Amino acid sequence: MAAATPPGEAGAAPPPSRLPFEVIRDPRAMRARADDLRRDGLRLAVVPTMGFLHDGHLSLLRAARAQADVVILTIFVNPTQFGPGEDLDRYPRDEAGDLAKARACGVDLAFCPDAAAMYPPGAQTVIEVRELARPLCGAKRPGHFAGVATVVTKLFNLTQPHVAFFGQKDYQQLAIIRRLVRDLDQGIEIVGLPIVREPDGLAMSSRNAYLSADERRQARALSAGLEAAAVALAAGTRDAAALVARARAPIDAQPAARVDYVELRDAAELTPIERVDRPAVLAMAVFVGTTRLLDNRVLAP
Ligand code: PAF
Repeated sequence: MAAATPPGEAGAAPPPSRLPFEVIRDPRAMRARADDLRRDGLRLAVVPTMGFLHDGHLSLLRAARAQADVVILTIFVNPTQFGPGEDLDRYPRDEAGDLAKARACGVDLAFCPDAAAMYPPGAQTVIEVRELARPLCGAKRPGHFAGVATVVTKLFNLTQPHVAFFGQKDYQQLAIIRRLVRDLDQGIEIVGLPIVREPDGLAMSSRNAYLSADERRQARALSAGLEAAAVALAAGTRDAAALVARARAPIDAQPAARVDYVELRDAAELTPIERVDRPAVLAMAVFVGTTRLLDNRVLAP
């Protein structure tokens, strides 16, 4: 993986944070602290993550810093969103490095619970967003989005944010979280920020760390496929199957790449479309070696 920009070196220095930096691990202590901060009239932002922060995460933290009085970063590798045989056990972790980056971005508070504290014995409530969670990653990773929706709801309840920041790389996740917040009247503003890419186009992801040098080179085909489809659309191709074929071509040419899905769907409801007559999302999941990478691009006629 290409080296991420060290914290504090990209862009202007963050404004000084107002509170001494704090790490909280106990969910009840987190909720009590958030309640106190709210009682003080402060605007709270949360950036939920699974850690191993890269520049995409840092862009969320910087945006949060600019829009809130208190920036809360959550770091929790959530077991309930991993299926059997997925990478829960080897998911990359670097808490000390993450906390240093967080401080450099002006984070006030890091919430780093462990799984036993988040899911005590007897926990049995699950949040399910139905239609939006069925296609794409939902079809390939059963239970994944119920795990995401449940943990995000818990993280919102514990951190009591006014505003929450997510990356658009996980396009379906972001759509699901927006719907969840709307359906459950959570009253939290959800901000989605653009994908941050490596110089050659690869979308930043903590899982890029799994790629060998050769796989890393082949992984460039995902963004190249999205670009090829966007070029074809601009040249007048509206047919969904033709655009998907354009997107797949560079990926299918890579020996280490195996398409999990490449689909063009309605940008808002994620329903299938046959032509790009309204905003659509071209979404893909591709295994490069054993690493499953996501990417997407919104295409508008
Ligand atoms: O996008 C992620 O890192 C995770 O899915 C999230 C939103 C932090 C929930 O565990």
